[in-house]
This record gives sequence, C-alpha cells and structure tokens, in this order.
Amino acid sequence: MNQTNPGRLDPKGRVIMISGAGRGIGAAIAARLRQDGYHLSLGARTPDDIVQPVGDDCMHHPFDALDPESPRIWAAATVEKFGRIDGLINNAGVAAAFGFEDGDEADLDRMLEVNVKAPYRLIRAALPQLRAAGSGRIITITSLAGMRFKRGSPGYAISKFAAMGLSSAARSLLWDDGIRVTAVAPGPVNTDMMPLASGLAREDATQPETIADVVAMVLGMPNNASVAAVPINAMFEPLP
Ligand SMILES: NC(=O)c1ccc[n+]([C@@H]2O[C@H](COP(=O)([O-])OP(=O)(O)OC[C@H]3O[C@@H](n4cnc5c(N)ncnc54)[C@H](OP(=O)(O)O)[C@@H]3O)[C@@H](O)[C@H]2O)c1
Repeated sequence: MNQTNPGRLDPKGRVIMISGAGRGIGAAIAARLRQDGYHLSLGARTPDDIVQPVGDDCMHHPFDALDPESPRIWAAATVEKFGRIDGLINNAGVAAAFGFEDGDEADLDRMLEVNVKAPYRLIRAALPQLRAAGSGRIITITSLAGMRFKRGSPGYAISKFAAMGLSSAARSLLWDDGIRVTAVAPGPVNTDMMPLASGLAREDATQPETIADVVAMVLGMPNNASVAAVPINAMFEPLP
C-alpha cells in the first residue's frame, strides 16, 4: 500500500505489461506508468519504435497480436526478467472503416484477432502471475464504439463490443483471485487512429495522456474499489 494514501496500491516494483507500446495511447501509458515507478514490460511489433529506454525497470519485447504464440512468449520473457506480473494493459488495436455493402471480410477477421482474441490470449498467458500477485489488474482499452453504435465501422464496433464482453467475463470470473478488471472506453483520441468521421479537430479530441491518467488512476485502486468501465467522452452524448 502507498504510504501517503493507504487506499492506493504502491506502484514501486509492480510489473505491468502494455501491448502496442510503440505509439499512440500505448506510448502515453508507458510514459506515465514509468514516471509513477512501475516496472514495465512493453510489447510492440517493432520494439525499436518504443521510446522508453530499456533499463532495470523496463524491458521491450516483440508482440504481434496476429501471432497466437506471441502472448505466451512475451509473458514468459516478462517473468524471466522480473519474476512476476501484476498488471496487463490490453491496448494494441486496429480499426478498419467499411460498412455492410463494402469492405473485405478479412479486415473484420483482423479486427477480431487483434482487438479480441489477442487480449484473450494475453489474459490467459498472464493469468498464473496475476493470480499469484493477489492484486492483479487487467485494463483493456475498448471504445465507446463497444458500448453503443453511433457512426463509423460496424466491424470495429463488433470487435469492441466483444472486447467489452471479454472484460466483463474476466471481471466476474477472476474476482475471487483478487484480480480487478476494467474497460477504459474512449471516444475519439488524438492518435493515428482517430476517426476522421468524428468531425472533431485533433485538439478537441481526448488526448492520449489523459487516457494514460485514467489508466494510472484505475491501476492503483485497491481491491475493494473496482471500476468495471470508464467511458470517456470528448463531446456530450447520453450513454446507455
Ligand atoms: N484513437 C482513438 O480514437 C481511439 C478511440 C477509442 C479506442 N481506441 C483504442 O485505443 C487503443 C490504442 O489505439 P491508438 O489510438 O493508440 O491507435 P494507434 O496510434 O493506431 O496505435 C495502435 C497500436 O496498436 C498496435 N497494433 C496494431 N496491430 C497490431 C498487431 N497486429 N500486433 C501488435 N500491435 C498491434 C500498433 O502497433 P504498430 O505501431 O506496430 O502498428 C500501435 O501500437 C486501440 O485498442 C484502439 O482501438 C482508440
């Protein structure tokens, strides 16, 4: 527990895996959590893209969400370096914009693979260590597109609704192991992925550093204060 706030978990020495840490929201989360004193295992398709330097408190590892073996190999390497895993941030994601009458079903498969199956596999791979930690944490960056359909890509929405389902199931089934599970669900965020269809100027979208703030807040919450989902609006809308 943190000395100044006994309600918060102390970041010192807690080991957090972050997928897609090379850019966008993942890079912002990595920067924020490092500053807070966590130990980081950063996964990216091209680890050379990761800005955070390798050190005693930070490792890089290849992670390709399209490779079913990649989660297991990355989790094993994390345990080899740090001896534990306390948290998993499922951040890597892809979006392809097409509707019901255009597009390619292969893009739908790719979104399901990266946005749903890879997080599922990562949870499985990290689970023994998250259980052993007694206060394991799983945060998945889903989307408002996974809570209601407003505009944009049906396939992306399908994948993010499924990611919400994954988060919900993990929250329920892993609760008794002390693992707390949260879906962080932003609207438009100022990254390469920001949907142009939102009509927002980049400066009016939510900034990736703000998502990182939310992740940092959720990650430090004690076992008796769990948040199931954090919807984050850049513009007003009533939510279900
Ligand atoms: N930006 C938004 O408006 C918004 C809104 C709601 C939710 N989100 C969600 O937020 C998360 C982060 O997105 P972002 O905004 O930071 O987008 P981004 O800048 O496009 O970054 C996407 C990240 O996912 C990684 N990734 C993509 N395919 C991968 C694969 N096959 N294997 C491993 N990593 C892969 C990318 O790695 P590479 O660098 O190797 O491509 C990159 O790190 C995603 O889950 C996204 O759906 C974004």
